[in-house]
Amino acid sequence: MKGIVFNLLEEAVSNAHGADTWDDLLKAAQSHGIYTSLGNYPDDDLLRIVGAASQSLHASPNDIVKWFGNAALPMFAQRYAQFFRPHTTTVDFLLTLNDIIHPEVRKLYPGAQPPSFVFSPIPAGLRMEYRSSRQLCALAEGLIEGAAAHYHETATVTHRACVQTGAPACVLDIQITRD
Ligand code: HEM
Repeated sequence: MKGIVFNLLEEAVSNAHGADTWDDLLKAAQSHGIYTSLGNYPDDDLLRIVGAASQSLHASPNDIVKWFGNAALPMFAQRYAQFFRPHTTTVDFLLTLNDIIHPEVRKLYPGAQPPSFVFSPIPAGLRMEYRSSRQLCALAEGLIEGAAAHYHETATVTHRACVQTGAPACVLDIQITRD
């Protein structure tokens, strides 16, 4: 996983719980704590930090990861406004993930392995199939909710199938309402 993800997690945790909490999590996760944005680090480092957060905040690892996705989206929107500006709706933005955003991420962060999605329309929303060996579907959920908030919409995400319970892909049904 690219270091930028760890940097955003540090920012999210420090903003919400203070820099000391981030230090405590690193200690509990036995992490060296030095993540440069372009570096590549074992996914297990992230999972150990999430595990430590899950214990100390009494929330499931998926809830922590989803919370992080929500918190990370505004940071992406600030750093990479060019991906957000051309759109006025969540669905239009999400539909650029495969062809614009994540391919650009591969150029900006050599060695990045972002996921790809299969899109299909559903009434008042979008179905996204997520396939990734990383099983970070909760991150996708949080980022989708965060993206909706960015466009003054609300996304209700229903997880119809999940890689974490043996399905070949996660099926995320996203219903959008305008705030
Ligand atoms: C709602 C929109 C987005 C969704 C649903 C999404 C989803 C994800 C997920 C689930 C991952 C984890 C890797 C995996 O599961 O295989 C990921 C990785 C990543 N995404 Fe996105 N993403 C979104 C928008 C963005 C934006 C706007 C950026 C920044 C320009 C971005 C940059 C990255 C980066 C840097 C990684 C790490 C890849 C790696 O370390 O190999 N994503 N994305």
